[in-house]
Amino acid sequence: MSLTWRELLMTDHETTERVFSAAEKALGAAEGPSPGLVANLREYLVGYVDRCHNQKEERTVFPLLQRAGMPVEGGPLAVMLAEHGRAKALVERLDVAAAAYVAGDRARLDELREVLGEYAALCKDHFWKENDILYPLAARMLDEETQAGIVGAIEAVEAGIGPDTRRRYYRIADEIVRAVELEDLSYGLDREVLAAVLNSLPVELSFIDQEDRVRYFSHERGEKIFPRSRGAIGTNVRNCHPQKSVHLVERILSDFKAGRREVAEFWIDMGPRKIHIRYWPVRDDAGRYLGCLETVQDVSGIQRLTGQRRLLEEAA
Ligand SMILES: [Fe+2]
Ligand SMILES: [Fe+2]
Repeated sequence: MSLTWRELLMTDHETTERVFSAAEKALGAAEGPSPGLVANLREYLVGYVDRCHNQKEERTVFPLLQRAGMPVEGGPLAVMLAEHGRAKALVERLDVAAAAYVAGDRARLDELREVLGEYAALCKDHFWKENDILYPLAARMLDEETQAGIVGAIEAVEAGIGPDTRRRYYRIADEIVRAVELEDLSYGLDREVLAAVLNSLPVELSFIDQEDRVRYFSHERGEKIFPRSRGAIGTNVRNCHPQKSVHLVERILSDFKAGRREVAEFWIDMGPRKIHIRYWPVRDDAGRYLGCLETVQDVSGIQRLTGQRRLLEEAA
């Protein structure tokens, strides 16, 4: 489905905010960011946020609002334009400092941190005002036909910059975010904490990657329903299953890869315990298959639940 003009511009904001969080993190590190990351950051902020995103607004929505009666002096439009001006001045300083840093002048790191901090704060505040105030106002002031025309006008501004502009810059944004996320798996959780969180789940996890190799399992220490050894890491999953069930594994994986199935589940008895085994395809935001997650859970206790318990039981 194609996006509306508001969704288009708000996706730009969201993408840029992700870039800011990654950049703040990378620049905050004592050793400073890699020159490659700073080069990408410079390209994205100068080339996209300043020269493309702000231009899209200034050449499409803003003039339409002006024509619909919103004054350019005084009022929300004036505030937005003044902020674009301040942002441009900051991004020009950032451009110079980033270029010097990339060329090897590490002494510019402090300046880079300062300018980026100021620029990001200004933009975040500005994005919020647009998302929550200006765009809803525009949606009320402009008729539907006019609004439908904005998408084409936005695409024309993008095309004026070069082929595939949005996709190209989103890819750069993604590279920045991924480079930082490699260090930090998820919103401030470091690897050890994340591993401990997964080991605290009442479910045992195993993960195989898109090439069907075992890459991870949880609950390494302690008693497991299905014991796994570290030696399994890296081996093809077909080698970890008894020959008679390999055809089942093949079938599940090919269904997942083809998008034909969203779960495969089994339950078996192990002595008095009921064991629930499920396989889940893991996909990224774009729907690309990343691998298969196995969850194994002793559900006997859950099966026995009746009535309710709404008070905390005494600790043993
Ligand atoms: Fe703006
Ligand atoms: Fe904007």
